[in-house]
Order: sequence, then C-alpha cells, then structure tokens
Amino acid sequence: MEDRAEYFSISQVADILGISKETLRRWDDNGTLVAERDDRSNYRVYHKSQLEIFDQAQQLFSNSWEAELATKPARPFRLVELFAGAGGLAIGMERAGFESVMLNEIDKHACNTLRKNRPSWNVVHGDISKLDFSTYRDKIDVLSGGFPCQSFSYAGKSLGFEDTRGTLFFEFARAVKESNPRVLLAENVRGLLNHDGGATLHAIRDVIKELGYTLVEPVLKAMFYRVPQKRERLFLVGIRNDLANAATFNWPSPFRRIMTMADALKAGELFSLQCAEVNCPDIPAEQSQSAVAGSTGRILARFARQVAARIYDEELFSWRREDRHGAALGMG
Ligand SMILES: C[S@@+](CC[C@H](N)C(=O)[O-])C[C@H]1O[C@@H](n2cnc3c(N)ncnc32)[C@H](O)[C@@H]1O
Repeated sequence: MEDRAEYFSISQVADILGISKETLRRWDDNGTLVAERDDRSNYRVYHKSQLEIFDQAQQLFSNSWEAELATKPARPFRLVELFAGAGGLAIGMERAGFESVMLNEIDKHACNTLRKNRPSWNVVHGDISKLDFSTYRDKIDVLSGGFPCQSFSYAGKSLGFEDTRGTLFFEFARAVKESNPRVLLAENVRGLLNHDGGATLHAIRDVIKELGYTLVEPVLKAMFYRVPQKRERLFLVGIRNDLANAATFNWPSPFRRIMTMADALKAGELFSLQCAEVNCPDIPAEQSQSAVAGSTGRILARFARQVAARIYDEELFSWRREDRHGAALGMG
C-alpha cells in the first residue's frame, strides 16, 4: 500500500457512511463494494477513490476546513460557559474566537485546572442553582454548557420550563431566561437522543422553544474533526427567534483525514510529544502539560508498548462507556 492516508479501515468506512461493518462485509462478499487487504495487517481496507461515489465521503474529501478556520469573528463575541468541567468545550470556544466572561463549575479540582491553564478566566466555583444570571442580561452572545443528563417526570404531554425544576437542565434554561443570550449551545452525550425513550430530549426541545429559540441539532462525531477518538456528541444550538431569520448557521466541515491511533500516540500532526517513548510512570512535568496529559498520557504510553504497530493505522482510540468526561491538565 503506497500512501496509507489514502486508505480507510472497515470501521472507519462504517462510521463515514453511517452503516454497520456487517453491511460492509456483505457488500464485499456480493461485489457491491470490494475491499483490498492491507499488506501489513491483512485487514480489509478501502481506497479513497472507491468511496467517492458516496455523498458522505465526498463531504469528507472536499471540505473547506482551512477556509473555515481562517474565519475571524467580526467583533469579540462574549461567552458564558456553564458546567465547564476542566474546559473541554471552553477551550474549543476560545479557539473559535469567543471571549469567556464567566465559567461556572461545582468541582473545585476542575476549577483549579481551569485557573491554572487560563489565569485570566473568571472561573466561578459553586453550585449553578445559587447563581444569578440577570447580571449578564443582554450582555452575552453565547451561553454554552454540557449539562449532566437527568430524567424529567414526563407523562406524554409537553413539559414547560417550570416542570423541569430540580434538574440541571432547568438551571441551564434558567440561565438562558435570565441572561437572554443571542445563541445557546448545549452539548451532551449521544445517549440523550434515547434517554427515557426520547422523552428527556423532547422536554428539552419544548423548553428551549418556549424560551424563544429556534433549534438546530446534529450528532457530530469527533473522529471527523481532527480528533483521534470515536466520540459522538449531540449539539443543540438555539438561535434567538428575533435573529433566527437573519442568521445562517453552518456546521463545521469535516477534516479531510481521519486521525488514527498513530496520530494519538506518535509525535506528528497533532502532538509534539511522542507518547510511545514516554517512560511511565515518571512523565516529566513539561510533558504532562502537553495536549495528551497526565493519567491519559500514562495510559496511552503503557498501551502503546503493548499494541502492534499495525493497529496504529487501523483503529481510532475509542473512549466509550457513554464517554465519561475526563479532566485533562494541559490545554495547549
Ligand atoms: C458533562 S460535564 C461537562 C464537561 C465540560 N463541558 C467539558 O467539556 O469538559 C458536567 C459538569 O457539570 C458539573 N456540575 C454538576 N453539577 C453542577 C452544579 N450543580 N453546578 C455547577 N456545575 C455542576 C460537573 O462537576 C461536571 O464537571
């Protein structure tokens, strides 16, 4: 195989096309889409040119990633970030050009991590239910947050804002109601789609609409956005109704290449740190501050010594179990 970047594993193609690996194996057997065998691993792989007939693959190969990254905000956009954790979403918002005016988080260690990495951020430690957001009324552009998912008592009828009281989503919605942001961004695990048979998301949609926002909501797969992980997230973007008609909203284009285990472990396009060469357990401090940080770095380093080189090009690092949010110390 000449250029490995031009080939995709069966699992990657299943993700790109949104079909099962079993379907792909069937297509291989009946000649619909015939795979090649990788000369190193003997696994089934597909060349880029075979996939170009599919819309989803075309989107991946002909994207405007660079042009979109070069887009600069017309003015500084102001952000309040709730349930900030150790800053996963916040750092993405920062990279997209947003200026945090406040971040809230109840976990003191997560708050300390945020403060260590971004001393200039206004990190407010404490329970969201104790905060008053009316001080931000009409002063912020975006209110974002990955609220923990909880059930509502739902009896088949639409739930209103007040009916969600007592949940963390209610606190998120209350922050929206009090601060009146132009746009809201709620991020959650893919499991929210089916949580309580879909009732939880149904109620969330109802409340967001009741608050006066027009919703767009896809599931995005991290692997298409230059992240070497199989992590899926549901994003709910609400645009305030008075702006919704004037606004055009586009989801980001996927990156042209899917990052692999090799990208996660070896020095290269993503990281300057060569994980496989780290002598665990004593990782030098400056290395533990890299993008692959702390315990994650150690796990990867240990793992790297055990995996065969062939896996590097095959599979992505998958962080499942409903994708727990982990704290990373270094934020680059
Ligand atoms: C799903 S995580 C969010 C992760 C974050 N978006 C990120 O990208 O790293 C939810 C966060 O909500 C925080 N949280 C839970 N209850 C809270 C409360 N009552 N007030 C403030 N934060 C809370 C948790 O400590 C946790 O860090």
